[in-house]
Amino acid sequence: MQNAALIYRRFGPPLQALALEPAPLGPLAEGQLRVTMHLSPVNPSDLIPVTGAYAHRISLPAIAGYEGVGRVIAAPPRLAALIGRRVLPLRAGGTWQRVLDCVPDWAVPVPEDIPDDAAARAYVNPMAARQMLARWPATGRRVLLSGAGSHCAALLARGALEQGAVRVQAIYRSPSRRDVLIAQGVEPIALQDTAALYAAAREADLTFDALGGSVATAILTAMRKGSDFVGYGLLTGEPLRPAAPPKAGYHRFHLREAQASLSPQDWQHAFSAIWEGMRQAPPPPARIFALADWRAALAAAGEPGGMKPMLDLSTGA
Ligand SMILES: NC(=O)c1ccc[n+]([C@@H]2O[C@H](COP(=O)([O-])OP(=O)(O)OC[C@H]3O[C@@H](n4cnc5c(N)ncnc54)[C@H](OP(=O)(O)O)[C@@H]3O)[C@@H](O)[C@H]2O)c1
Repeated sequence: MQNAALIYRRFGPPLQALALEPAPLGPLAEGQLRVTMHLSPVNPSDLIPVTGAYAHRISLPAIAGYEGVGRVIAAPPRLAALIGRRVLPLRAGGTWQRVLDCVPDWAVPVPEDIPDDAAARAYVNPMAARQMLARWPATGRRVLLSGAGSHCAALLARGALEQGAVRVQAIYRSPSRRDVLIAQGVEPIALQDTAALYAAAREADLTFDALGGSVATAILTAMRKGSDFVGYGLLTGEPLRPAAPPKAGYHRFHLREAQASLSPQDWQHAFSAIWEGMRQAPPPPARIFALADWRAALAAAGEPGGMKPMLDLSTGA
């Protein structure tokens, strides 16, 4: 069987560091599943490691991609019932390839009624939003979100409203996001409306920040004592640089660390809630690219106001 993978052999800008290469398949290791991949999104969380941000824990060469959906084509005898089933082959990374071998404990069966383009996005952002809201509940609090055009911020907004947040405000960059936020019950704030942004930061009890950089620094600096600021992304590529120790509690969230203590049972159980959430609110439409067009998919990932790009790994490379 032919395999092809988006591999990086050095760290750097993803368009330069990644290459689509043949990836020979060895025999399937004992106890593992072999999965032919179908769809995988292009998330910031996939691209950041390629730049070298986590160079200390990535050995090269590496295959990019942290989530996606595929179909089991081989399994150990005790799991033969999984052959032909759709699964998310998670936790080991390397989902940007046509055929992937994975450990059954972390492979999540996909319910029949969940379409592939939703299933492919069921892990990184839904799990991160759930874990953040479990750790810093929004109940009875005024919540501020940044990076409101992102999938993760949309899930945080929805989850915060479900938990009973008093108010959810969200800072957006692209004007096309405004009406979507209003329809969701979220108060939109334009990124360039500095006065509104400061006012929201002063009033917020809880901020989830995806941006970092000067905006996040301004929010953190303006937040009151007793409030909480949770930084979970650096979409600006810049760290926070508060001039003085913040009055708000400052927290960082990393999905990798938060899920480290989950048993395989807890892990599978968490997805029951994620599937239910997807039935009630399916993710927004995605833009699908053939694997051979991966460069266009990566370019689309940076377009303001764009749809989430997805790689169709079942197409010829
Ligand atoms: N810590 C964790 O464990 C964890 C887990 C999940 C996600 N994350 C982080 O969460 C963030 C969002 O991920 P995602 O997959 O939800 O993203 P996404 O759906 O791909 O959305 C990205 C959106 O962010 C906005 N954006 C990008 N750069 C921006 C900038 N410089 N200023 C303002 N807005 C900007 C854009 O909105 P417009 O289109 O409106 O311009 C863009 O559409 C990323 O930083 C990711 O690393 C972290």
